[in-house]
This record gives sequence, C-alpha cells and structure tokens, in this order.
Amino acid sequence: MPRRSSLPSLILPLLLTFFYSLFAAAQAKPVDAEGHQWWQHAVFYEVYPRSFADSNDDGVGDLNGISSKMSYLQELGVDAIWITPCYPSPQIDFGYDVADYRNIDPMYGTLADFDRMVAEGRKHHVRIILDFVPNHTSDQHPWFLDSKSSRTAPHRDWYIWRDGKGPGQPPNNWISGFGGSAWTLDPTTNQYYYHFFYAQQPDLNWRNPAVEKEMLDTTRWWYKRGVSGFRLDAVDTLFEDPALHDNPVLPGTNAQGDPNIENKNNQYFPEVHQVLQKLRKVADESGAVLIGETWTANIADLDRYYGQGDNELQMPMDFMFTSVDKLSPPEFRSQIAAVNGAHGWPVFVISNHDIPRSYNRYGDGKNNDAIAKLMGAFYLTLRGTPIMYYGEEIGMENNDPTRKEDVKDPIGRTGWPQEKGRDGERTPMQWNTAPNAGFSKKDPWLPVPPSYQTHNVATESKDPNSVLNLYKKVLALRHTNQALLEGSYIALNEDDPNVMSYLRSYRGKTVLVALNMSASPKKTIFNLSQQGFGRANLKSLIASPEASAKGNEITLEPFGLLIAEVTQ
Ligand code: GLC
Repeated sequence: MPRRSSLPSLILPLLLTFFYSLFAAAQAKPVDAEGHQWWQHAVFYEVYPRSFADSNDDGVGDLNGISSKMSYLQELGVDAIWITPCYPSPQIDFGYDVADYRNIDPMYGTLADFDRMVAEGRKHHVRIILDFVPNHTSDQHPWFLDSKSSRTAPHRDWYIWRDGKGPGQPPNNWISGFGGSAWTLDPTTNQYYYHFFYAQQPDLNWRNPAVEKEMLDTTRWWYKRGVSGFRLDAVDTLFEDPALHDNPVLPGTNAQGDPNIENKNNQYFPEVHQVLQKLRKVADESGAVLIGETWTANIADLDRYYGQGDNELQMPMDFMFTSVDKLSPPEFRSQIAAVNGAHGWPVFVISNHDIPRSYNRYGDGKNNDAIAKLMGAFYLTLRGTPIMYYGEEIGMENNDPTRKEDVKDPIGRTGWPQEKGRDGERTPMQWNTAPNAGFSKKDPWLPVPPSYQTHNVATESKDPNSVLNLYKKVLALRHTNQALLEGSYIALNEDDPNVMSYLRSYRGKTVLVALNMSASPKKTIFNLSQQGFGRANLKSLIASPEASAKGNEITLEPFGLLIAEVTQ
C-alpha cells in the first residue's frame, strides 16, 4: 500500500547528502605543502576477509571480525584497508565472482555490519577501500541468469555471446587465464559466452552503455556509503577484439595443460582507458582513490594507467617490483629508477592474495625473520605508497597444501602438482598461540601453519626484536618523518652488489636507508659530498640488528638494516 512520506523520511536523505558532500570536500584537500592527497601519505593494508578475523566462530572471517581489529590496525600504523570482495557470491573464486554488487555476503555479515565497520574505521582513522570487479560477474548474477535465458533477453547484450566456429568449436582459440577455452557453450541458446577467468565468471560487455552506467552508479553508491576508494580488479582485460582474431600460439604448455598463448587480442585495449577516466570522474566527486590491479610488462604500459593529465588511476600497482624475486640490489635499483621515471606516484607491493608470501619468496630458509624485516624496511621507506598484505607484518609464511584433496582454489586442483593454487598465501591471520592461531574456535577454512606458535601478534608484540615491532617502528617513522613522506629518492653506491642504499631528502632533512641483502657482514662508506654533505654524520633512527655507524661509514650484519638521519 502506498504511504505518504513523513517529514523525517524526507529530511534524512537531504541531511545525509549534505554531510556526505562536506566529508567528500574535506577528503579531496591536499594534506601538505606539496599538494599531496591523503592516499599519498597513507599506508594501505590488504585484508582477505575470509581469513582475517572470525567474530562468529564459523571458520570463516567476517566484517564484524575486521571491525574488532581496528585498534590493532591503527596501532600498527595502517591508514586504509582494502578488503577483497565481500559481496554476495557463490565463492567459486572466493568472492571474485560477484552475484550482487550492492550487498554483503551473509557469510561476512550485513550492510549494517558494513556501516558499523566504516564507523569503527573512522574512529581509528582507518579508511575502507573495497574491491570492485568490473571485468566479470558470477554466472549466478541475475543479469547473467537473464542473459542466458534467451537470445532476446533484456540482459543478453550485457555479456559476450557468439556462435561457435563450427559444431563443437568455440569462436576462437582464446584460453582462460584459469585453464581451458575462454568460451563455454550454453545449451539453452546454443551460443558460447566469453570468460577470461573461470566459466563461472562471464565477462561483462563494456561496449554496452547500460553496463557502463550501472557499474559507474555502483561505485557512486558505495562512495555515498563511506567507501574511500576501490581497488579495481583485472582492469587489463575489460575489452577484447570484437572481430575475435585468434591469439598467437607460443611453444609449450602451461600448468593447466593448455597451449601457451599470447593474450594479444583480449587485453590492454585502448577503451580500457576511457572506462578508467569515467570511473575516475565519479571517484573525484568524493575525493576517492582508485588502485589498479595492473599487471604490466613494462613501465610505459604502467605509466599509461595514470592517464594523460592524471585522469585515470591514482595508484596503479607496480607488479614488476614483485617480479624481482631475489634479494638483488641491482635489479631493485633499476626497477625503482624505472617507476620513478613514470609520471605518477609509485605504488609498492611485495605480497598479495595471488602471489606467494614475501616471507617465502625472499627468505633463504635460515634468516627469514631478518629478511622479512629487511624487506619491510625497504619498501616502506621508498618514495610512494605501500600496500601491505595482512600477516606480512608478523612474518606469516605460505602454507601450501600437500595433498590435492585439500586444495580449495580451483586452479590448484586443475594445475596440481605444478600449480598448487593460492591457498598457501590466504591462510588465517595468526593472532595468538590459541588453537587455530586465535582466528576461530572452529577449524578454519584453511589450516594455519605450525609456525603460528612463534609468529603471531600476541607473542611478537612482547618481543622488541620481532618482525612486528620492526614494522611498527618503520611505520611510525614513516608517518612523522617528512623526508620519508615527501622526499626525493636518490640512489647511492649504485655499483654495490650487496648493499642497497638510498637517500630520501626533503627541504634540508635527509634520511639514509642501507640494507645488506647478503648473508655476510658488510662495511659500507658513503660519500655524500654531491648531496651537499662535506662530512656526513649518520645518526641511527632504526637498526636491526644494532648497526655501527662511524661518521660516514657503517657496518651491517648479514641481512642487517639501518635507517639513519644524515647531518653535517
Ligand atoms: C584478480 C584477483 C584474483 C582473481 C581474478 C579473477 O586477479 O586478484 O584473485 O582470481 O582477478 O577475478
């Protein structure tokens, strides 16, 4: 029965819009004399919601769990958390198969829990960034259910449907990133639909203006609900060649047994940039930030993602940095020089939910804790914004499944044993020494590794030399030291194969970072006369383990690190 609107129900939305616009205007203000925005001073932290904190002890993390950890995040020195998809989803790809973009999966809570989490975040100065999945939906999304129901369905053209080449033959040779053909035949209408990822993740047709409008409106809807930005999933693959040319076939096969293929005709299309510009316009209405999952092979491609005139992504992730998989000062130097040459603000990542944890990638099996501290001190002191991955700060290790039947990530089952999937880097956060690392009273969806007994928040909080306390010290320094926040990056001793060192310098304040990436002690001398220091004196701000500095000479232990103030 229609009801007449009461006065409060008319006024409330107006008030909310008014406060929202005040908040949005405040968000867009520069935070320093250099004109930097809030996200350039912020430290981001990725939360995998299934695995962070389980408030109702059902073995899977949830939003109330995240809310309960806001003070932990604040004390750690985190300013914004990016939560991987928590929308309703059949969970084939653990949330990256979205069935409703404007709700919360009951497994994680409700929209009211989400609002509480935003409010709790505000109290602790932790902003919320959601994960936006524009490339594809779940095959259970009502749009796709309608789309596949008939060739004339209202949502038919929201996805990419094509006839096969011939009986039993897909339209072309494109291979899904997750194995098998990128085309699946749907018997109801006898056409194939396209999916860059799993068959349960049909690609949206971004050439349809209705899709674009709905997706842009969805981001606006979340900004109004208090979200400070999005991490945009799989943007490289938003568009594909409408003429469906075959992709070039390369020699050999991959872990899934498919022929190796160059994805020439189904990624990096110029139209991607037009969409990013539109998403950015909406983000700018709220002073929000767009982070990109941008897998690029070179700096020129990464640079394009900032947009000409900085009108696309503020924070495209530099995954080329993660491809330096060993402690190699020369390789790190050249990657940093390259990203500093791009025209946008660098974004550094060393771990995430798709790549094995940095603890294992860089660790040598004997000095892993020292190396974890070294890597933390490294990327958290570079010029740019870091995005941490939950658990990295306590030295969490990969816990790969040892038996195929235990694997949860589908690519680990289809690619076993060559590809074990991504379960190993997604295990529950290790909070304390209680069973299941204090994550849940019930057995969690993935098991914690035995090392949780030593590597957990409670134990490490009490140990001044823990990985956790090193991260806390570096993050605290980074938030207060202007040279680290604003300073230029100047590489030092560039022919040294073992010690990575650089200055961060801003208006007469200079910080030197020296990282011994080798397993033997190293003495290093710095000549800083070119930087205006006749006789440089180094005053230690953070060292691990203790490092001795005499004038401009330092000695670092194996995998030792020093962050020092430089004075005359
Ligand atoms: C991104 C996500 C990954 C997911 C894929 C498909 O690469 O990071 O976890 O499986 O997109 O959505």
